[in-house]
Amino acid sequence: MVTTVQDPHFPQVHLRPPANWINDPNGLVFHDGYYHLFYQHNPAGPLHRHIHWGHFRSRDLLHWEPLPIALAPTPEGEDAHGCFSGSAVSHDGRITAFYSAYREDRWYQPVAAADSGPEGTDFTKRPDLVVPRPPHGVTTYRDPYVWRHTHGWRMLVGAGLRDGQGAALLYESDDLTTWRYLGPLPAADDPSGRQHTGEAWECPQLATFDDGRALLIASAWYQRTGPSHVVSWSGTSDQGQYHFGPPTRFDHGPDFYAPALLRAPDGRWLLWGWSWEARGGTGTWAGVLTVPREVTLTPDGRPRQVPARELEGLRTGQPLRTEIRALPREVNELDRLAGAADIRLRVSFGEDVAWGLRINSSDDGEEHLDLRLSEGTLTIDRGRASADPQAHVGRYTMPMPQAAPGRTAELRLLLDHSILEIFSHSGETLTLRYYPSSAQGWRLVTHNRATTRTTTEVEVHTLRTPDGDRK
Ligand code: FRU
Repeated sequence: MVTTVQDPHFPQVHLRPPANWINDPNGLVFHDGYYHLFYQHNPAGPLHRHIHWGHFRSRDLLHWEPLPIALAPTPEGEDAHGCFSGSAVSHDGRITAFYSAYREDRWYQPVAAADSGPEGTDFTKRPDLVVPRPPHGVTTYRDPYVWRHTHGWRMLVGAGLRDGQGAALLYESDDLTTWRYLGPLPAADDPSGRQHTGEAWECPQLATFDDGRALLIASAWYQRTGPSHVVSWSGTSDQGQYHFGPPTRFDHGPDFYAPALLRAPDGRWLLWGWSWEARGGTGTWAGVLTVPREVTLTPDGRPRQVPARELEGLRTGQPLRTEIRALPREVNELDRLAGAADIRLRVSFGEDVAWGLRINSSDDGEEHLDLRLSEGTLTIDRGRASADPQAHVGRYTMPMPQAAPGRTAELRLLLDHSILEIFSHSGETLTLRYYPSSAQGWRLVTHNRATTRTTTEVEVHTLRTPDGDRK
């Protein structure tokens, strides 16, 4: 096994195997006392080739046990060049995985299935494709998402349509074997035209809530440039009919894609995304999954994402707690933090809203991320985050309605070596990658840029690697 312990960018609490390529989380399902998480994986190297389904399971969402590869391409078979993304259900004492069968000589990826043994391992592929061909008028076709619906089953498949729009195609089945096509799921356009939704939707996901509301999530893909960003539509689910309003951006960062949902036994919707590398030539490994997030809808129908509550179990030692009452223009430096940290910030503004946090990753301050709050907006800038010329730069924003005169903005940052996930109290998220040269940990510097006082409450927890260490 390749050792990654010395690699300053290898994540500590974000899930991935010790080496090689990963992309989408797949087949998330609770089965026989375990959360099962599969993922797109090339076991032979750090590039997207010859994709298998890797496999982890966990009882508590903290300790993940690596299991043997669940699905591998069958030479000459329908999936000869890859077992692409899909989902899974727990039924009749086993896991049935639905996936996209990839062959280089076919433009679409038909739906294939495989059944596990009672433990949720030892998959046997079904001999026939489940949906061998896409319907007419489709230009891209892959990524089945299957769920229980009343006494039967339903499935979405991600698609691109001839008119250049993405779609989620709806199917139904009584027995998980024979599927009937019902048509594309109706979802509204953005009346302002600002929220782009891609030329195809990859990995469509659907969450329904007890109050009759529903959330559709899809990953926007373009023919020329490939994967782009994630969009969601809020709506309703009424006796099997779905209606969705206009699309909104689901994560505001540049490095978040193909999220997948899991219905936990307690009814929560959990979600993991794939965070790709934001640089070239990555050595022995590439890709990481985000932490699990709990997804709900706010009273006004926006998706709200927060880190799964189980993650509090990763905290170790005494937290750092401090309150900084900063005068106009005051700069304050905090203690050094570990490479993996859970940071909570409560920033209370006076009349003027202008505040900054610099996350330094080198002692000389040369490498840093800059986070700023201005009225209504959070901005993160990774232009100076890495001395590596191959690292991607850029500035990203997310709505922050609490950043307002006389109000308090609450933020949570999960920092883990080369990935940062930002959560606002209102449930917006921003995920991004950055590549510091050293593994010394972080030094935080707050900067009240306002002409009035700003109070910052900080609480920092060091995160430990769960026992049963993956490294
Ligand atoms: C999304 C995706 C899926 C596809 C898989 C292939 O990242 O492109 O549409 O099934 O990855 O690895």
